[in-house]
Amino acid sequence: MSTAVATDRFDLTKPIGTELRGVKLNQLDEAGITEIKELVAERGVLFFREQDMTLAEQVALGRRLGELHVHPAAGAPEGFPEVLVVHTDAKSKRTAGEGWHSDVSCDERPPALSMLRVETTPSVGGDTLFASMYEAYESLSEPIRQFLTPLKAVHSGDLYRNLYEAAGAEKKFPESEHPVVRTHPVTGRKVLYVNSGFTRRIVGLGSRESRAILDMLFDHIAYSVKGQVRFRWEPNSVALWDNRCVQHHASWDYFPDTRHGYRVTTVGERPYQ
Ligand code: SIN
Repeated sequence: MSTAVATDRFDLTKPIGTELRGVKLNQLDEAGITEIKELVAERGVLFFREQDMTLAEQVALGRRLGELHVHPAAGAPEGFPEVLVVHTDAKSKRTAGEGWHSDVSCDERPPALSMLRVETTPSVGGDTLFASMYEAYESLSEPIRQFLTPLKAVHSGDLYRNLYEAAGAEKKFPESEHPVVRTHPVTGRKVLYVNSGFTRRIVGLGSRESRAILDMLFDHIAYSVKGQVRFRWEPNSVALWDNRCVQHHASWDYFPDTRHGYRVTTVGERPYQ
């Protein structure tokens, strides 16, 4: 495995994104799993082609990466509660993940790794974009970095309100406070940790102040093109990303075609400054 990563590694940009060729994810040994976890923390997102596997194999692989997360969305395949089905077709009113976000950052222990395998690709489009939050943090000016460093922000799962209500759960949608700048537990690097999908306000600021700062940061993330990479899917491609240091954005530019895939996600640690 070490050899595979060293010899079949193709960085797509300097700050983010590496394609690994010649690696069969579900045949990795323990050293290979460790190496993949370290590499994804460094590069933000890894891409793999031709990863034909069953749902059971994808779940087993996910478990080797960490404790698996169960998403509030209904529709997990029977027997696989940890699998999130990502499906869009001509009848869809929305598509999952259209907008910059870090998966389920409203959780107290938000996701670490997400592994998406797309089985059915549209005739054109359907790419996923990824943005490095190392780069987003490092490209802010020093005075803004200093201002943001002690702050916390509220991340809310309000967009899941209907999902919780439909499930008849007592549980309210999750809401958590996380540091605006967190330290990545594997690399020790600083990361900008706010996202337009879930972050609603900065604690201790007035509502207009908070809105203005968050809008500035969301613009900074969206416009920092040099910290982004865009992945073109083929059937059975896999993207493995680290939600602690990247955000992603699905592109729904293929209507009315169908795109279908499966995601498993690991639970991360409580973010710390
Ligand atoms: C998501 O996990 O947010 C969906 C990403 C995608 O469908 O490309």
